[in-house]
Amino acid sequence: MSNLPFANDAISPCIGLEITGLDLNTLDDDTTAAVRQAFNDRHVLVFRDQDMTPEQQVRFAERIGEPDIYPMVRGLDGFPMITPIVKEAHEQVNFGGLWHSDTTYLEKPPMATMLLAREIPPVGGDTMFASQVAAYDALSDGMKAMLAPLKGVNSSSKADVTRTREDRVKGDEAKKSFDSVHPVVRTHPETGRKALYVNVGHTVRFDGFTEEESAPLLAYLHRHQIREEFQCRVRWRPGTLVMWDNRAAQHYPVNDYHGHRREMHRITLKGDRVA
Ligand code: SIN
Repeated sequence: MSNLPFANDAISPCIGLEITGLDLNTLDDDTTAAVRQAFNDRHVLVFRDQDMTPEQQVRFAERIGEPDIYPMVRGLDGFPMITPIVKEAHEQVNFGGLWHSDTTYLEKPPMATMLLAREIPPVGGDTMFASQVAAYDALSDGMKAMLAPLKGVNSSSKADVTRTREDRVKGDEAKKSFDSVHPVVRTHPETGRKALYVNVGHTVRFDGFTEEESAPLLAYLHRHQIREEFQCRVRWRPGTLVMWDNRAAQHYPVNDYHGHRREMHRITLKGDRVA
């Protein structure tokens, strides 16, 4: 994007922007506004070479929004809003290892998530993203009209996603289930653009329909919404911070690095009621 006051490169035509030469510890107001503009346009921002303490990560998060506490996994000591996302060398299952938008089972899901890479395998452990704005735009007018009135029921206890965090959950949280109903097509509160808002991790059925009745259309949408032309892929380095817009993108952490440790520090930013 040529109108931004920092070096940047699009990662794919519809999603992702890599930003270099910007120190997130020293952002002024104008640069923060430019970051927000880029975030709204590209859904996923990749900031390279960030040297940040946990305190500095929280301070950057507070410049962009309001940090939230993730309900399922305990935060770092002294920083409850920073969730460590760790896969040890001996573990097989990775956290959140399927396509999803974060915690859509909450009444007000987070608008954004930022992940800072602390330790990365020598190769692998990339994260994929898919633009749900591009996915929506590519649907036929007939499909858009059919989806317009539908709502999706989202649950924290869908079996596949539960498996991806079962070793990591806070004691009592393991027993709780969170459920929320959201529009299947949401309108971004800042850009006004429409995006698909179902995901294979959390969406169980359409509101007013059984799971069996919902399954064929959901299966179609889950295939469609991650088509390669809507995607970008981020290769991490220690010190890379990625910030993604949960209102406009889904993500998928690739689990191809068994035998190596990966540690990320995650902060989610509070969002609004989905409309
Ligand atoms: C997540 O779903 O927040 C984890 C993403 C990742 O580990 O790349």
